[in-house]
Amino acid sequence: MENTKVFVVTSGKGGVGKTTIVANLGATLAKKGYNICLIDGDIGLKNLDIVLGLENRVVYTIIDVVNGNKPVMDALVKHKQLKNLSLLASSQVANKDMISPEDMVEIVSQLSKHFHYIIIDSPAGIERGFKNAVVAAQHAIIVTTPDLTAISDADRVVGLLENQGYTEKNISLIVNRIKPKLVKRNEMLSAEDIKDALALNLLGIIPDSEEILISTNEGNPLSVTQGNRLNNVFNNISDRILGKEIPLEKDLSELDHAPEGFVEFIKRLFHRRG
Ligand SMILES: Nc1ncnc2c1ncn2[C@@H]1O[C@H](COP(=O)(O)OP(=O)(O)OP(=O)(O)O)[C@@H](O)[C@H]1O
Ligand SMILES: [Mg+2]
Repeated sequence: MENTKVFVVTSGKGGVGKTTIVANLGATLAKKGYNICLIDGDIGLKNLDIVLGLENRVVYTIIDVVNGNKPVMDALVKHKQLKNLSLLASSQVANKDMISPEDMVEIVSQLSKHFHYIIIDSPAGIERGFKNAVVAAQHAIIVTTPDLTAISDADRVVGLLENQGYTEKNISLIVNRIKPKLVKRNEMLSAEDIKDALALNLLGIIPDSEEILISTNEGNPLSVTQGNRLNNVFNNISDRILGKEIPLEKDLSELDHAPEGFVEFIKRLFHRRG
């Protein structure tokens, strides 16, 4: 397809929510009618196939494509409910050295003929496999949680991405697992502070939520389920990816049952002090 957009979702520190975000953004964009392909660029415990509930359907992986055993379109697994959401799975047994950056570029170029959006789930920046995941994309989304180690590791990843030719124009930031209670007690940085520290465009803010945790663990992204109040968060981020101007305040405005202090927290986030 013309103008296929290729995103990579990455981080400095591991376990900050990359796979969860890739699954939910993929599902949301698919629900909007776009043809979406997710590529699992990571080899880890909580792989994208599990988070999407597709682990039993994976027959071929990216390794079969690289080895020439399968054309890439035949190696994809379709989501059970969202037929326009496909996954190119990673292999648990594979060694990351089996895939080169050139292989990844070739795979993405083949997939680009068929999909509007390709989203690559990357390992954390310090791990092997990071380069494969980032070379084939045009836009990088860095995920961080609001703790100092994750933020400083995210800062290192900005440097790594710049080494791969990225600039601040095609890197953006998602702050995941914001905890309003801690922000209220001034024990957690706000998304605005983190954005300023990293000097990146803020693509979205996601609250820490048991519902997100449970949905990841159940292999059923929230975005597939109708009517969840957190859908709005992923919906807004997806709309920004589509180029719509959605104010950041909207990300958290659906949280009607937000804990006490949440409203002040939001206000603090978006209005510069002093
Ligand atoms: N906003 C959130 N609220 C609560 N739990 C979350 C949130 N985002 C992610 N999690 C949980 O954090 C854990 C790690 O998430 P995930 O596997 O998506 O991270 P990752 O960055 O892909 O990790 P890795 O670096 O190992 O690939 C999962 O159990 C997931 O359910
Ligand atoms: Mg992951």
